[in-house]
Amino acid sequence: MSIHTDIRRTTIPQLVALKGQRKIAALTAYIAPIARAIDPHLDFILVGDSTAMVGYGLPDTLTISVEQMTAHTAAVVRATQRSAVVVDMPFGSYQESPEQAFRNAAHMMAHSGAAAVKLEGGAALAPTVAFLVARGVPVLAHVGLMPQYVNTMGGFKAQGMNDEAAARILADAQAHAEAGAFGVVLEGIAEPLARRITEALAIPTIGIGASPGCDGQVLVTEDILGLSGATIPRFAKRYADIGAQIGEAAAQYAEEVRTQAFPGLEHCFGVKKAG
Ligand code: KIV
Repeated sequence: MSIHTDIRRTTIPQLVALKGQRKIAALTAYIAPIARAIDPHLDFILVGDSTAMVGYGLPDTLTISVEQMTAHTAAVVRATQRSAVVVDMPFGSYQESPEQAFRNAAHMMAHSGAAAVKLEGGAALAPTVAFLVARGVPVLAHVGLMPQYVNTMGGFKAQGMNDEAAARILADAQAHAEAGAFGVVLEGIAEPLARRITEALAIPTIGIGASPGCDGQVLVTEDILGLSGATIPRFAKRYADIGAQIGEAAAQYAEEVRTQAFPGLEHCFGVKKAG
């Protein structure tokens, strides 16, 4: 059987091969319009469970479900052609056992078209990473500030600020690399530690609030577009103010509806053209 497709996505081995060649650029997307706009410019798109907070206005990421993440990811895959798509495994969908992790990872990949999953956790999760990789599930590990562990961390705080904590995070990242993870997200950790981990690992590190020395960067797209409120995290940078533009467009539309400038007859059906 032969299937023709024009879609040429970056593959996971191609992402890994970028280490030491050039920096890897990634952003999050949860819906088709954003995914379509950012796709041509990136190496991979992360369908992050940050959508719980950014998209659903929840206080943390803990309540998003496998089915919600699968639906968001399927929308992102349908809207894109170039970037690899990685889906976040939600809280509680992989921590119980490697078998539970495989069942949910396989379900999310099969029903969305994602090429890989991301999971948060320290070295204790390394056997789960090995179990998934051995069964055809590429894994992007996530260490340091792990939002799913907000209750054990006591808040969304930068990690690895003393020697003991730094050594633990380095060991976490090394354990994931040895288990076969294709990359590691380093979130909210001390800058020198992020450099050290990047030098120590053969796989790419993807920083968010980590270091310019990481092999790549990922940010939440709404943060860079001005769509996540007045303040953004210190580690993010605003590249556009789309939120303000949306407000201006909505104000102009409302004004035109009220003054009857919109709709005009050109926006209606069954209107005979003059002449
Ligand atoms: O959920 C998410 O968007 C993430 C990134 C910010 C790394 O995990």
